[in-house]
Amino acid sequence: MSRNSRPYQIAPSILSADFARLGDEVRAVIAAGADLIHFDVMDNHYVPNLTIGPMVCAAIKPHVGNTPIDVHLMVKPVDAIIPEFAKAGANIISFHPEASEHVDRTIALIRECGCKPGLVFNPATPLSYLDYTLDKLDLVLIMSVNPGFGGQKFIDAVLPKITEVRRRIAASGRDVMLEVDGGVKADNIAKVAAAGADTFVAGSAVYGQKDYAAAIAAMRAELASVSQG
Ligand code: DX5
Ligand code: ZN
Repeated sequence: MSRNSRPYQIAPSILSADFARLGDEVRAVIAAGADLIHFDVMDNHYVPNLTIGPMVCAAIKPHVGNTPIDVHLMVKPVDAIIPEFAKAGANIISFHPEASEHVDRTIALIRECGCKPGLVFNPATPLSYLDYTLDKLDLVLIMSVNPGFGGQKFIDAVLPKITEVRRRIAASGRDVMLEVDGGVKADNIAKVAAAGADTFVAGSAVYGQKDYAAAIAAMRAELASVSQG
């Protein structure tokens, strides 16, 4: 596996935070070493759950400092909400191709709004969606669970898929983040990195622990073994 050129990044998902104390929870995880804040938006239509929207993104923005907000839209239709998230302070906006009638148009819209576009692949979604989009993306997000809930078990069958995305990114010569979302924990993050990922969403593995800094440090220690390996 070719070595990643990007540094590893940990992106705690606030889906598993205490929603009654979201500002404090965001500050705490940044103080604990988070590189990105992963913001899961669910609509009870594209996925069977309902979470948070642009107003909550705007509410946490003053608490994040320079840490980017990584918005993961599990919303259909998706286009109308994109400018709202851009105004609310999102830095990265990713969406599922099944949730857009015109994937190329949605990518362009995210870029026009001043954000970095990402495309998300469910476990059963083919990578052929990258054939004509990778040159316009800043992030590819591979789901390692079916979207909708935190705390699910990592699906090992996505590991070769991650490696294939890494191959495509390397062939493109572009700097594209390769993020993996779902069931990532200290005990499996090394194999996810070895498969080619550089950015790791962790919801329950961080917010489910008492000591967020220890949880993130444990993941970084595992990643260090991959880097040196
Ligand atoms: C699932 C979400 C994930 C979720 C991950 O649909 O996209 O970001 O919060 O949670 P864990 O890390 O607990 O699997
Ligand atoms: Zn997510």
